[in-house]
Amino acid sequence: MERQYLSGFGNAHATEALPGALPVGRNSPQTCAYGLYAEQLSGSAFTAPRHENRRSWLYRIRPGVVHQPFQPYEGARHWDSDFGTAPVTPNQLRWSPPPVPGEPTDFIDGMVTWAGNGSPEAHTGVGIHLYACNRDMTGRFFYDADGELLIVPQLGRLRMRTELGVIDAEPLEIVVIPRGVRFTVELPDGEARGYVLENFGASLRPPELGPIGSNGLANARDFLAPAAAYEDVEGSFTLIAKFTGGFWQCALDHSPLDVVAWHGTHYPYKYDLRHFNVIGSISFDHPDPSIFTVLTSPSDTAGVGNMDFAIFPPRVLAMEGTFRPPWFHRNVASEFMGLIQGVYDAKAEGFAPGGASLHNCMSSHGPDADTFEKATQADTTKPHYIRDTMAFMFETRGVIRPTARALGSPLLQSDYYQCWQGLKKHFNPAQP
Ligand SMILES: [Fe+2]
Repeated sequence: MERQYLSGFGNAHATEALPGALPVGRNSPQTCAYGLYAEQLSGSAFTAPRHENRRSWLYRIRPGVVHQPFQPYEGARHWDSDFGTAPVTPNQLRWSPPPVPGEPTDFIDGMVTWAGNGSPEAHTGVGIHLYACNRDMTGRFFYDADGELLIVPQLGRLRMRTELGVIDAEPLEIVVIPRGVRFTVELPDGEARGYVLENFGASLRPPELGPIGSNGLANARDFLAPAAAYEDVEGSFTLIAKFTGGFWQCALDHSPLDVVAWHGTHYPYKYDLRHFNVIGSISFDHPDPSIFTVLTSPSDTAGVGNMDFAIFPPRVLAMEGTFRPPWFHRNVASEFMGLIQGVYDAKAEGFAPGGASLHNCMSSHGPDADTFEKATQADTTKPHYIRDTMAFMFETRGVIRPTARALGSPLLQSDYYQCWQGLKKHFNPAQP
């Protein structure tokens, strides 16, 4: 079926699945239409400035509090939020893509933590996970009290049925599920794989545009929130919660997806990365990769992100007399990269769709030897068209700590460093 979405980033949307379900003029009337309950869901401090305030009013069949007591949940065994305090290797790391599991595994149990920093309790830092699954979350619902989930599908579509409506997403689209929103994930293609950034910090938003002006990068109208959709279903269901790094479950005798109408600013949304308006140099050199930022989670320090989500989409390179691939660099920030499709322009091979790389604070990285040789001999009077590619980066202020699982994985490419060892010495003091 054709989904209905509401367009715009940060807009105070209002949507109802039954006519007149939304109260007019007040948020919490003495009684609600259709016998609904009113419930506020706040994703920011009550007193947060207007432009940062995220809250929605939900009009639902039963309030969220109607559930049995939580007990520890034994699934989600590979989803961690404790990243340790041991020293972290400065080596550049790269992994091959994980296989889709052979055992029946759903989106929650198929989450594998690869790296992270900070802490859910401190509301700062990120968890970085890879998911691979092959089963719908039948009768199971989930919410994350620890963070907002930025989901980057790489293989297979996701149908995300949430309290606030249904989002269908495919590779090259991203989905953001805010803290606390309950949802379930179905796999229309029978299997799925991708990346998840669990953002413990301030909620994601597009970056300020400064001199770029009022258009460009990710345009506000391309962020799509779901229209209200509810189910009135009774039965035996499980609600799983992630809280303080632990997992909990409780029984429900009804579906929690019973929100008939909602309005506000705290809602899930999706964005199609193909709509990103790439801005870049049209003379020489190229700007810092921050020019590719889709969404940012600001920190307490102005201009420094808790996390930036940047992409490297199809684009035209027109800079003359310029080394066109990403330059060699060392950086105070830490960079976890993934590839959704195609080839990344700084690497000849080894970085496969579904795979990942990690270049931590001040660890040198850049184009491999083959890419360097090609780029130094390229004819830069002609434009170079980069097509059919989509790489991305989770860039963080804090050091990204790979988990013991990621460091011990057979997917870790022990020969990654070799891609730079062919960089030859060209220096000749007699030849300026
Ligand atoms: Fe980098």
